[in-house]
Amino acid sequence: MQYLFELGHQPHISTAEVLAVLKHAKIKSKILENKNDFFILELEAEEKQIEKLAQKFGAIIQVGIKFESTEFPQQIISKYLQTKETGKINFSISPTNNKLAITIKKELKALGKSVRYIETKNTASILHNKLIKSKSHFTVFQNNVYKTIYIQDIEGFSARDYDRPVSDNISGMLPPKLARTMINLSEVDNDKVLLDAFCGSGTVLNEALSLGFKNVIGSDISEKAVQDSEKNISWLIAENNLQNVKTNIFLSPSTELSSKLKPQSVDVIISEPYMGKPLHGHEPKIILDKQIEELQALYISTFKTFHKVLRAGGTIIFIIPKFKFGNVWLQVRCLDEIKNLGFEIENFANGERSLLYHRSTQFVGREIWKFKKVN
Ligand SMILES: C[S@@+](CC[C@H](N)C(=O)[O-])C[C@H]1O[C@@H](n2cnc3c(N)ncnc32)[C@H](O)[C@@H]1O
Repeated sequence: MQYLFELGHQPHISTAEVLAVLKHAKIKSKILENKNDFFILELEAEEKQIEKLAQKFGAIIQVGIKFESTEFPQQIISKYLQTKETGKINFSISPTNNKLAITIKKELKALGKSVRYIETKNTASILHNKLIKSKSHFTVFQNNVYKTIYIQDIEGFSARDYDRPVSDNISGMLPPKLARTMINLSEVDNDKVLLDAFCGSGTVLNEALSLGFKNVIGSDISEKAVQDSEKNISWLIAENNLQNVKTNIFLSPSTELSSKLKPQSVDVIISEPYMGKPLHGHEPKIILDKQIEELQALYISTFKTFHKVLRAGGTIIFIIPKFKFGNVWLQVRCLDEIKNLGFEIENFANGERSLLYHRSTQFVGREIWKFKKVN
């Protein structure tokens, strides 16, 4: 069956996430097209299975399934809507196509159906008009019609972002969508033990819990961060009435974790580490170089402890920042040292070695890496 994935604003990260989630679910996939933020795949999976799996995504805006028909879009949509139960039929089309919508509406009205075309401007209006529930939102791409079966849960993300008791604007917060994507990129089962060694206000831990992880560990060098994480996690557990969840949040520099955790007791580590002092973009190179040197030392010592607490074969998804200086990126060089400690770099499911998350206005780029403990 053919599926369309509408990618987020960092499309290469979205494709890596889609392929990682499918690989983890052991679904065979063939890439048909990757164009205009649409990723089209042939999947050996039924609609219901993909609909359920899609709930995991962080970086996907919507998923649609193709109507297997050689007819024109207007005939496909009109015939499908005719099969709907009696009562008012609401439908919408992306990208907006009023001409097509009016033709469909006329055809259905002629058959005595009560029908309303809703011009949806964004994900929120598709959700608000309950067009996913009624399965009557369509995407027309290259003359094919896709019925939307999933749309990003923007309300859930927004609640976890803004309604939680504490947010951290000083040391900076990872967007919950990116935190979720990072967990998915690890391709790890949710019955495993997950650690975030720079837990901040608990964004990664909360996304892990909302993905069904039952055993999460968080540590941070700041007392406030530990308290914030605890408050945010308790809020999420209560809000979602999560049962049988084990959490362990404590104060520790990332370099001393092995005195707090048993050897090889962690299965997967997902961290956005400390990335230095906030920058305004006009720092002289000497300042950036000094910061990079400090981060390099911190990350290498941190990976030494990771090696002790992570089980053999365990996975780490870790952000290494890079800094914009004029037109060049200044890198924190630590990959060779990390490899020498007994880790391998693994490519992501889309074949890329690292994934850069960056917005054009930012001076810091977050480069996501995947490591495996090999010896
Ligand atoms: C970029 S923030 C992480 C944000 C977190 N992912 C979130 O979304 O809330 C970095 C965190 O690292 C912590 N930190 C700084 N140096 C540390 C160290 N050496 N060991 C552990 N945590 C450290 C800071 O207190 C801060 O909470």
